[in-house]
Amino acid sequence: MRTLLVHIASTHQWSSTHKLKTLWIFCLCLVGKSWTERSTSDNHIVENGVSDFCRIDEKLCNDENEVLSYEAIRSIHKQMDDDANGNVDVSETDGFLREDLNYHDPKAKHNTFHGDDQFISVEDLWKAWKGSEVYNWTLDEVVEWLITYVELPQYVEAFRKMNFNGSVMPRLAVKNTSLTLSILKILDRSHVQKLQLKSLDTVLFGAPLMNRHSHLKDFMLVVSIVIGMGGCWFAFIQNRYSKDHMKKMMKDLDGLQRAEQSLHDLQQK
Ligand SMILES: *[C@@H]1O[C@H](CO)[C@@H](O)[C@H](O)[C@H]1NC(C)=O
Ligand SMILES: *[C@@H]1O[C@H](CO)[C@@H](O)[C@H](O)[C@H]1NC(C)=O
Ligand SMILES: *[C@@H]1O[C@H](CO)[C@@H](O)[C@H](O)[C@H]1NC(C)=O
Repeated sequence: MRTLLVHIASTHQWSSTHKLKTLWIFCLCLVGKSWTERSTSDNHIVENGVSDFCRIDEKLCNDENEVLSYEAIRSIHKQMDDDANGNVDVSETDGFLREDLNYHDPKAKHNTFHGDDQFISVEDLWKAWKGSEVYNWTLDEVVEWLITYVELPQYVEAFRKMNFNGSVMPRLAVKNTSLTLSILKILDRSHVQKLQLKSLDTVLFGAPLMNRHSHLKDFMLVVSIVIGMGGCWFAFIQNRYSKDHMKKMMKDLDGLQRAEQSLHDLQQK
């Protein structure tokens, strides 16, 4: 009886480990399958992207840096193209500006973005980006942008080390943890988000107005105050002068009137 029990137990154990093994292998197969499927589809997409890029911009499609920027532009476009028809229309821009960039009055931005074009393709977006002055920014200009517009001067060192010029801006505008965390070493998530939003804004709408010459602004303020005060002083002096002048004139007039009166009196006599 006891041996039978042991036997049953061992068969049970065997069968359960066997089952477990089968299950395990099955799982592995499933994971492997989905993995290969995913990686092939990823490859497919990337290759498609590069060949698209070569069609759009033959000169740059061998530049690794530009390919990454193009991928980023494509991803921004995908983010904006809600109905995934390949074009971004005015209502999609509107929604994107309201929801993703938190603009309360996006109408003003439409024209800068759409111009006469109702629909924007990836190619349009790429061409617009290449025509932007930001695309030609040097490292120093990007650093200045980082300090005055993004207000994250603590990452200047990392930007300089990576030699980031204007052409990388689209890559900063899309989510990429390996870039922000491993390369730029930004640990604070709010900083990542801030950098992403401001980059996106800069890619889509061009160079922001940066108060880069705050010293100049202060100086202008002082000058305008001095001019204003000088103006008041001048007006005051003028006013006093004209009052004095008026008084004198009144007195003269008075005298004249009296003289006239006395002449009149004299004539009547
Ligand atoms: C950027 O620089 C290139 C080469 O110097 C020039 O052809 C292009 O017109 C410049 N783009 C802008 C927007 O200034
Ligand atoms: C920006 O940097 C990339 C590579 O780092 C370089 O190929 C490109 O010419 C640079 N652009 C400017 C405007 O300096
Ligand atoms: C993220 O950035 C890294 C470094 O720039 C780049 O190699 C990688 O391809 C990027 N990933 C995506 C999904 O764009």
